[in-house]
Amino acid sequence: MDQHTPLQATATSQCFEFSAPLELAEARRDMVSSPTLAINEAVSRRRAEGKETLHLGFGEAIFPLHPALRQALAEAIESTGYAPVAGVLKLRQAIAGYMERTRGISCSEEQVVVGPGSKPLLYALLQVLEGDVLVPRPSWVSYGPQIRLAGWQVVPVATDPADHHRLTPEVLSDAVTAAHASGAKPRVLIVNSPSNPTGGMLAEEDVAVLGAWARAHGITIISDEIYAELAHGWRPHVSPARFYPEGSIITGGLSKAFSAGGWRLGYAILPAGERGAQLGKALRALASEIWSAAATPIEKAAIVAFTPNTDLETYVRRSARIHGYVTHALYQTLIELGVACPKPAAGFYLYPDFAPWRGTLVNLGVTTGQQLAQYLLDEWAIATLPGVAFGEEPDALRLRLSTSHLSIVSTGSAPKEQAAELWQLLAQADALPVPGEAGQLVGPDLPELAKAQLRWREVIGYFNSLA
Ligand SMILES: Cc1ncc(COP(=O)(O)O)c(C=O)c1O
Repeated sequence: MDQHTPLQATATSQCFEFSAPLELAEARRDMVSSPTLAINEAVSRRRAEGKETLHLGFGEAIFPLHPALRQALAEAIESTGYAPVAGVLKLRQAIAGYMERTRGISCSEEQVVVGPGSKPLLYALLQVLEGDVLVPRPSWVSYGPQIRLAGWQVVPVATDPADHHRLTPEVLSDAVTAAHASGAKPRVLIVNSPSNPTGGMLAEEDVAVLGAWARAHGITIISDEIYAELAHGWRPHVSPARFYPEGSIITGGLSKAFSAGGWRLGYAILPAGERGAQLGKALRALASEIWSAAATPIEKAAIVAFTPNTDLETYVRRSARIHGYVTHALYQTLIELGVACPKPAAGFYLYPDFAPWRGTLVNLGVTTGQQLAQYLLDEWAIATLPGVAFGEEPDALRLRLSTSHLSIVSTGSAPKEQAAELWQLLAQADALPVPGEAGQLVGPDLPELAKAQLRWREVIGYFNSLA
């Protein structure tokens, strides 16, 4: 056994005088958890303490797993070997076919890279692509931290709520000019249509103009299309890759349309041609050093999701319709209450602005979006996320509301009953009117939705009573 003499001990401590175990890298000391995951944990804590909470903080598709996927996973469960880095061939072929059917873009399996969720694929893309990154303001919470982790600068593109947060050549060029003036060199633009947090979706003509702008400026588009299948029906989803195939990368996955976020299965579609192939090589190399491959049984089961199957397509269409119903029902309530809010077109988010009550809120000690979210959680048991989490200025009084949990049919029922109730709800979806078209939206009574509508009426009523 080693005997440490006092002399040795002194030598050792002198040698490591300036180091300590578990020392964090300086650049990582201020890192915090993603606000979406943090609010989810805060709500779980509140509920464990017996505090009832209206959870509008976390965007998670909650429909039950489709039986075809369950069966496919059961059949693949013995696949314990590693999958190829880019994903199993049949899955990549299925995804390529899915791109043709859903996006109208021709694509081969060579262009597909599968990973454990689209989130790590987005990060890997930012690691391998050159240049600072244009990011719409507001946009998803993880883009900024991912860009900084990859060593690039975030170049915000200020969008106008009064103009539906459109990405116009003017706002993009303004952002590039400001970036160049400050020494940044933007080469990449993240587009997220349908958008988290606004729930909006770019119109086809705007996507065409956007593609032309990016081509003219030599900008690579990363098009995060994770919500594409959840269009509510009044506006079609159009990918920038339709107009700018040589410079657009699409990402997507199982999390939203197939309600299977926990399966962690995403994909990236790279452009065809030599430059796309070079990007694929770099992306696979990076993936091979970090995650090796997505889980093999999940990959094999996912083949079913992307292979033509009328029943699954119906499931996805119906879940989009229910998300649309719930989101538009709450949207109508907010609009009736005088809250400005972009009209949702897809997914399960609303992005209302409480600026008209700024004067009243000051008297409640609320001057920032963060304080507003905290006030609503503490005083009204409503969990939301403030605009600052989406890159907005701290004093913006916009909040992101997620409506995905409002589809729950009866509160407090066991998971099995809840799944049965959600299947019944999905069965009614085709009879619902297309949300967003004129007229009052009539649909099933959902207790969490009713609670959310009532709670906002009470909140705004209270604010008005103080004015
Ligand atoms: C805009 C956006 N992009 C990407 C993701 C990540 O999806 P995945 O589950 O495929 O990693 C999310 C999930 O919340 C999201 O909202």
